[in-house]
Amino acid sequence: MQRIVVSGRGALAGEVRISGAKNAVLPILCATLLADGPVEIDNVPHLHDVVTTVRLLEGLGATVTHDIAAGRVVVDPRTVDSHVAPYELVRTMRASVLVLGPLLARHGAADVSLPGGCAIGSRPVDMHIRALEALGATITVEHGFIKASAGRLQGGRIVFDTISVGATENALMAATLADGETTIDNAAQEPEIVDLAACLVAMGADISGAGSSRIVVRGVPRLHGGRHAVIADRIETGTFLVAAAMTGGRVTATHARPNSLSAVIAKLEDAGAEVLVDGDRITVDMHGQRSRAVNVTTAPHPGFPTDMQAQLMAMNCIADGVAMIDETIFENRFMHVNELMRLGADIQIDGPRATVTGVARLSGAPVMATDLRASASLVLAGLVADGDTVIDRIYHLDRGYEHLERKLSALGATIRREG
Ligand code: EPZ
Repeated sequence: MQRIVVSGRGALAGEVRISGAKNAVLPILCATLLADGPVEIDNVPHLHDVVTTVRLLEGLGATVTHDIAAGRVVVDPRTVDSHVAPYELVRTMRASVLVLGPLLARHGAADVSLPGGCAIGSRPVDMHIRALEALGATITVEHGFIKASAGRLQGGRIVFDTISVGATENALMAATLADGETTIDNAAQEPEIVDLAACLVAMGADISGAGSSRIVVRGVPRLHGGRHAVIADRIETGTFLVAAAMTGGRVTATHARPNSLSAVIAKLEDAGAEVLVDGDRITVDMHGQRSRAVNVTTAPHPGFPTDMQAQLMAMNCIADGVAMIDETIFENRFMHVNELMRLGADIQIDGPRATVTGVARLSGAPVMATDLRASASLVLAGLVADGDTVIDRIYHLDRGYEHLERKLSALGATIRREG
């Protein structure tokens, strides 16, 4: 089993190129199933979850070419001959559930394994199911499978009780081929939703309001092939900017989208960082200073992203002061806390609140990654801990970060992969 060894070696400095967004490319790859011609996706990051999604599409019969070096995937869905997303794939990647809407809309049937929970929470899919039923689907859940069927879907009114990125995406994709108009209220507003909608429009969909709480979709008879380049990953960007702040360094993220991470930038400024934005470049300069503790409450976009909570906790572990971190999205997204405490962090958990008292130094130790963003926070903590931090189970990291140790090494970090 591979692991990463990272040593605390002072300030990071330099430029890092941001890759395409994991949480945009995964729904967009699923959306290709809606087309009646080839769809070319560019700026695709080389991530384990992308490889898994390509395998899933091939398992459905799609013809897929994946040029990893070029960051390009071309999906020709005309050869799709199955509507079954098997358990062995879905259980490794929850985002597989995003084939549900496209398969139902394009083929009138979908059998998708229930994803099951993961480290950060139970993560049900009840809202996905209710949304598709509002468009006329008949859905049963039996023997661990979501079994959906429909004639042509009918446009309808979907109102989400709470905000769900994935349920919004499944509803949006299904509605593009429904007969009539669909309104989606209390829709997720994440930038990845906007990017998915842009790709669907490039394929001939009629969508307005993506990025707001009300999306309106006017169904069309068919979607054609097209091309789309995926937006930059705002969570990867935030992760590198936090690394700069924690190490007291100066890092510029290039090919980024500054306006997609305003809440993260605001927290870095509260922590004492100088943040400079110039087009698609964001520079964090900490001027060698220790960060100030910053309170955080996670929220749906445009609030502070839950996917940055673990990283900001790592920064608060060595900040000057006490910080309260409230996780409001997932019920179990503090799996990184015990591991950070092995590195000497001072953290108290009380339900959805973590109270972090900054310490002057962390000390390196063997730790274990439990989920994607938890593993990122352990790498960040290792950058400022005395001695070596050895992070096990880094397959979690490879799901969502392209060449993380290579990019950090280029910024001056002492980090290597072993095994
Ligand atoms: C997406 O997950 C992201 N994944 C997550 O990123 C991200 O943390 C999350 O949105 C929130 O921003 C992808 O885009 C592939 P949700 P998703 O539906 O769609 C509950 C990462 O690290 N819920 O917005 O699964 C759910 O349990 C990953 O990159 C229901 O109760 O998240 C959670 O508490 C982690 N019923 C809350 O809603 C449902 O039917 C928000 O979940 C659906 C969700």
